[in-house]
Amino acid sequence: MSLFRKKSLDALMSQAGDSEKGLKRTLGAGSLIALGIGAIIGAGLFVRTAAAAGEHAGPAVTISFIVAAVGCAFAGLCYAEFASMIPIAGSAYTYAYATMGELVAWIIGWALILEYALGAATVSIAWSEFLNKLVGGSIPFEWSHSPFEKALDPVTGVMHQGYINAPALLILLLLSLLLIKGTSESAKVNAVIVFIKVAIVLVFIAVGWQFINPANHHPYLIPENAPAAQLRDGSFYSYTGFFRHGWGGVLTGAAIVFFAFIGFDAVSTAAQEAKNPSKDMPIGILGSLVICTLLYILFSYVLTGVAPYTDFVKAGKEASVAYAIDTYMHGYGWLSSLVTIGILAGFSSVILVMLLGQSRVFYTMATDGLLPKIFCDLHPKFRTPYKSNMILFVFVGLFAAFIPGSVAGDLTSIGTLFAFVLVCVGVWILRRNDPGRPRPFKTPLVPLVPILGIVVCTAMIVSLDSTTLLTAFVWMLLGLMVYFGYSRNNSRLKG
Ligand code: ALA
Repeated sequence: MSLFRKKSLDALMSQAGDSEKGLKRTLGAGSLIALGIGAIIGAGLFVRTAAAAGEHAGPAVTISFIVAAVGCAFAGLCYAEFASMIPIAGSAYTYAYATMGELVAWIIGWALILEYALGAATVSIAWSEFLNKLVGGSIPFEWSHSPFEKALDPVTGVMHQGYINAPALLILLLLSLLLIKGTSESAKVNAVIVFIKVAIVLVFIAVGWQFINPANHHPYLIPENAPAAQLRDGSFYSYTGFFRHGWGGVLTGAAIVFFAFIGFDAVSTAAQEAKNPSKDMPIGILGSLVICTLLYILFSYVLTGVAPYTDFVKAGKEASVAYAIDTYMHGYGWLSSLVTIGILAGFSSVILVMLLGQSRVFYTMATDGLLPKIFCDLHPKFRTPYKSNMILFVFVGLFAAFIPGSVAGDLTSIGTLFAFVLVCVGVWILRRNDPGRPRPFKTPLVPLVPILGIVVCTAMIVSLDSTTLLTAFVWMLLGLMVYFGYSRNNSRLKG
């Protein structure tokens, strides 16, 4: 029975009351939306849109964005209910501890490592790609790619083999040090970065619109008989598989671009700093989601209109926006550099929020006794979980340095989707088990909305490739071993 022992909601709320002493309630609805957008717009849009279009969905990647947004909206509505009701840090992990018990909470916490830690790794890999683009490709391929990647130089005919992604490691180190020092982004700095990011997306949409070649949008879905595309290493990419053309491709595209929405749940971790959480959390979570969805659809429409989708399996796979501008939008070379600088700044805020989110989840899990105390040891001067930040840097750094971005990105999506499914289940369970508790924001149409959330998110999970699914499965098994070997016996609820 102890596997399902729960933290009582009343205990959680009083814990929230305690920790409120150190936190100021300064964030209004506008700042929360900005926080969401700060964490949301990143590599998902600027890198994975091209990957999804090139390899699976073609121009219909716009529909992929809609499918992913629908899944997020259902889950977002469930998050909003929890965040307004249990406004404390720890997010999905905390909600699960109160509703489904310790084992499920552990599983979510373990899955969130995929979301936050691997998310940070993925975006740092994208950061490295864009940095290389900015400096004219002068960072050698070997030092900016994982050992699993190779590429044929079209001019010299030499095959390059990656060793380590050094720029990705560098940005992770810098941001980890920043977090240790406690220089967290103020809402103001975040607002500036958000302004730059959104401005870049809007400028690209406005300028790129004039360069849309209607032929690139026909046919809108990749046809089954689309000719295979030749890759940089000389091999061919075929579109014949079920998930590589037509609606199957749109669904896989949705699972890939789902990454672009990750981060809206990070708004829920700021619940303790919201001025009026019951009203503003739902606005922050759902508002940032709506704004990003609109921007994503327009952006992907323009990107696949400017460049044919097949370019994105070949030359334009990395730094796709700059590639599309340089190759097809003549006279706008300045925009390419500007976009790249803005994107680098934007990626940095995403990485920072991911690393921060991860250390908060670890902190809460360590406070509950499920992880060693080292993860909640605070720095005597900076009051930050510095040991946790350092361990995290080593862990995230290993992935960033030695794993290709696409693999890390898909695992991130699985971890997040899994957490979303469990949050949907949690809302439903709590409505049945504790119907009388005040709910400042109520998810509409329960259980329909949670069920739809579960269905759409599960569909995206199963449409990811089998290697990623297997890796995620092995990761979860490892998590269960840690739970039964350590956490269960060290839990503070052990009685
Ligand atoms: N949504 C974030 C991004 O796309 C994780 O970079």
